[in-house]
Amino acid sequence: MTQMTDAEIRARVDNLLAQMSAEEKAGQLTQYFTFSRAPDEVARVEDEVRAGRAGSLLFVSKAEEIDRLQRIAVEQSRLGIPLLFGYDVIHGLRTILPVPLAVAASWDPAVAEEGQAVAAAEARAIGLHWTFAPMVDITRDPRWGRMIEGAGEDPVLGSAMAAAQVRGFQGAFIGAPGRVIAGPKHFAGYGAAFGGRDYDEAEISDNELWNIYLPPFKAALDAGAGNVMSAYMGLNGVPATGNRWLLTDVLRETWGFEGFVVTDAGAAADLATHHYAADLGDAAVRALDAGVDMEMAPPFGEAAYRTLPQALAAGRITAAQLDTAVRRVLDAKLRMGLFEAPYVDLGAAAAMLAAPAHRAVARRAAERSAVLLHNAGGLLPLSRDTGSIAVIGPLADSARDTVGPWVFEQDDNETVTVLAGIRAAAGPATRVDYTPGVTMPARLHKSIFEDDVHAQTQRLVVDDDIEIANSVRLARAAEVAVLVLGEAHIMIGEHASRSSLDLPGRQQELLEAVLATGTPVVLLIMTGRPVDLKGAEPAAKMMIWYPGTRGGEAVANLLFGAAVPGGKLPYNWPRNIGQVPLPYAQLRSFRPDWAQERYWNEGNAPLYPFGYGLSYTTFSYAAPRLSADRIAPGKTLEVTVDVTNTGPVTGDEVVQLYIHQRYGSAARPVRELKGFQRVTLAPGETRAVRFPLGPGELSYWSAARRDRVQDETCIDVGVGGDSTAPFMTSFEVAG
Ligand code: NOJ
Repeated sequence: MTQMTDAEIRARVDNLLAQMSAEEKAGQLTQYFTFSRAPDEVARVEDEVRAGRAGSLLFVSKAEEIDRLQRIAVEQSRLGIPLLFGYDVIHGLRTILPVPLAVAASWDPAVAEEGQAVAAAEARAIGLHWTFAPMVDITRDPRWGRMIEGAGEDPVLGSAMAAAQVRGFQGAFIGAPGRVIAGPKHFAGYGAAFGGRDYDEAEISDNELWNIYLPPFKAALDAGAGNVMSAYMGLNGVPATGNRWLLTDVLRETWGFEGFVVTDAGAAADLATHHYAADLGDAAVRALDAGVDMEMAPPFGEAAYRTLPQALAAGRITAAQLDTAVRRVLDAKLRMGLFEAPYVDLGAAAAMLAAPAHRAVARRAAERSAVLLHNAGGLLPLSRDTGSIAVIGPLADSARDTVGPWVFEQDDNETVTVLAGIRAAAGPATRVDYTPGVTMPARLHKSIFEDDVHAQTQRLVVDDDIEIANSVRLARAAEVAVLVLGEAHIMIGEHASRSSLDLPGRQQELLEAVLATGTPVVLLIMTGRPVDLKGAEPAAKMMIWYPGTRGGEAVANLLFGAAVPGGKLPYNWPRNIGQVPLPYAQLRSFRPDWAQERYWNEGNAPLYPFGYGLSYTTFSYAAPRLSADRIAPGKTLEVTVDVTNTGPVTGDEVVQLYIHQRYGSAARPVRELKGFQRVTLAPGETRAVRFPLGPGELSYWSAARRDRVQDETCIDVGVGGDSTAPFMTSFEVAG
């Protein structure tokens, strides 16, 4: 398929616009949910499609169904405009990759890019054109379940992951073969929800907005993202979906975004819920005025944009406003080649979903995402000839949990659980015993998401007391116990915040009972946030996240040393929930000498710092060298550091560069990540790793100037393997 020129696209859009009624235009701006298990809904949506009152559908995820609905749009609607199919392809469609937070923990943007290219290929093959991803919300409160969808707490790591995911999803241009449109979300600030409560309000200072929450969006747009999704919550009291400053002044006028904006589900109609718009009609006018092009209609409620024709007739919106939004949506459809090739090749779709190469990408991503937190006495890696291993825990053999939340099209039968992975990889003489140990608790309030799609698949434990005793028996009889504990996938993600970081249910008790046997314990933590183990100390601890389709295989490779852990934490890991928020990049304030004593009963430091993670080898750092000790604002210098693998095996280190600005037009954090590179080093090998420091790294948004500035100042520089790297050198920025 040849790419259309901008002029050709414009001419096609003009031609269509000239033929469209106001109702058809509003239709192009309306996206409906289509849940195939609700037949009445499907019939209603079909009628809307036929009548030209729907421009896009979401949640249709079967190739045959997409093709069928597309044929209705193309062959039975008056103008035959094809539908744009969008879906939440967050970490894979059939081949499930580790959750996005895990991929961020790889600190390897290539993993994110390659993984999302796989997701895009599968999505495009079944007829999808657009994914509601990447989620680029910065999260500093692990109570928020949606933390799992993002890249953690840091804007530099977050920006790198945002851009890489966009490149993976979209390829070199919108409409590239086998790719889909990427829609960074939720614009902007959703991650700051009060108390980590999902959908709650947020209060964000300009400093935080510009320096922390917005940069990943900017990075995603610079990488070419064709869509943006507006958030539910508000900024300064104005809901994001009705916020003209955000959606027009910043997004379009300051950043030059030319794609289309969609609301989050029901967020236009929701403007009335916020007590911002008077009613549904007012909500539609305010959303369009603010800069929303397409409404993602509420799943079971009234669409607001249906009222746009009346608003036009009443003079509340102009024809030009309506046309501008429609133009953007048609532009996307044309670029995606929908008019030329609207239908799905069902045979090719099936083959794409089965591609073995995709599974290899998922396994490798899981291996590169794991973070080794503790490894007393070098317990890991285990020998394949270990005589007996007791595998214990409700998540050890749960296929559904292994792939994590936000997946719908996975094949649980092909998912490799940790137990299955260990069984396959252990030597022939190794005995592997298993018990789930305890049951996962039920949710306090029933969730709308707890339907067949979100069902739990852990093996049911009839009696926890009996099974804990059984776990103890198995652990006693084994050379090593591998515990897989954490959170079931329904305990995290959307609409799944938790008010505590404790292991749910009786898992803590199970852990302590097994530890008391004296058998060495490897704890594998399956979740997407820090957990509070209340001081329990297994010999080895590894964060395996929700590792995806080939998770168990990857974990077994890590356990037995066929892969070496090299991931690092994308967030500060608090000691307990009372410390939250606890960003590593905090501002210094009164009595820093008391900084470790801010609480009467607790230290200030995290349990593990941002950027932390161990390997089966060790690394040493030489003092960083600067190419200059003074630069003028706007100029760039280079930091070079020699990193050496001082241990016994080849391994990866994530070399991290931190700076601290000593003074300026605003106070800056005690340290900020400004560069990172994951390198593989053989034993004894030394690599010189280089980082630029120039205006991109040294400027920031200053409230004193209400603009981006680069101060004349002194900058401290530290390089190391986590965010406790000491500052060892400094330079002046002076004109
Ligand atoms: C609501 C979520 O906030 C958003 O992230 C998602 O893309 C839509 N629902 C569609 O599922």
